[in-house]
Amino acid sequence: MINMRQIQADYNAVDFVSFMNEEEKWYFDTHGYIIVRNVLSKKDAEYLIEKFEDWRKIPEKKLPKPLHRNLELSVFQNMHYVEKKYQDLILDSRIMKYVSSLLLHNPRLMFCSMIRQKKNEKKPQARKLKNGEIVFHRDTNGYNYPFEAFTNPLIGYQVVNGIMYSGYINVSITLVDVPGDHGICCIPGSHKCNFNTPTIKTETPYDDYIQSFELSAGDAIVFSPNLLHTTRQWKMNYARYTVFNRYVFGKYIEEGFTNHSFEDHKEKLSDELYELEKMNYMKEKKIVKRLKKLYA
Ligand SMILES: [Fe+2]
Repeated sequence: MINMRQIQADYNAVDFVSFMNEEEKWYFDTHGYIIVRNVLSKKDAEYLIEKFEDWRKIPEKKLPKPLHRNLELSVFQNMHYVEKKYQDLILDSRIMKYVSSLLLHNPRLMFCSMIRQKKNEKKPQARKLKNGEIVFHRDTNGYNYPFEAFTNPLIGYQVVNGIMYSGYINVSITLVDVPGDHGICCIPGSHKCNFNTPTIKTETPYDDYIQSFELSAGDAIVFSPNLLHTTRQWKMNYARYTVFNRYVFGKYIEEGFTNHSFEDHKEKLSDELYELEKMNYMKEKKIVKRLKKLYA
């Protein structure tokens, strides 16, 4: 008699310890997002807004590198290289607990950005919309492997034997109070949908389908980019400021983006953050070791 058995890739024996408890896993898997309250104090949120406004006034040539601004001065990137509070926010254990767990404990920072939105300020694509039409999207990173319509392990959301994985993770942190009918909104559960969204006709979309959130300055939403989402019109008299950080699975390939890390400026980052920006090889990152002490 000859025995036949399997020694590797035993799906039923995957030894993975999530930092999320059973309730958190259920909530994220069912909704596609989770809210983390008060990751920044009001004072720190105000400080980051002041910094943003200061940076807007600096002539382009004098801008501290590698800080990057768009032409309208409404979107900034790489602030963590010039302001320590962004480093703390990116590495915040209450956020990283979810990010690490959803990336199979192989997190990598993809980018850190800050967006200002004012009343009546419209994004270019919003002008094309007719009659208050609501258009949702899923985020892609532009690297569609091998075709956009095919399952992309870098982007997709999947669960195997109780282990959740989202190819990358969005974290949106508001620096101002957001009323319940403003700001980011989504269709809960749509991160698992396998069908294209038909044109849905309804008089009351926000009652019937769409979830938006009442948030205080300093609250964060961690969500799967596969979730159908968009932004509701900003009607408040004060500007909306949002920090938007994206994390990606650290063992995957380089996608051709240039903003993963800036070697010329690496001394401006803590060792933990510098490593978080790098692709992950065979070792566990410092941030994951720290989180294990807190949550495992
Ligand atoms: Fe998006």
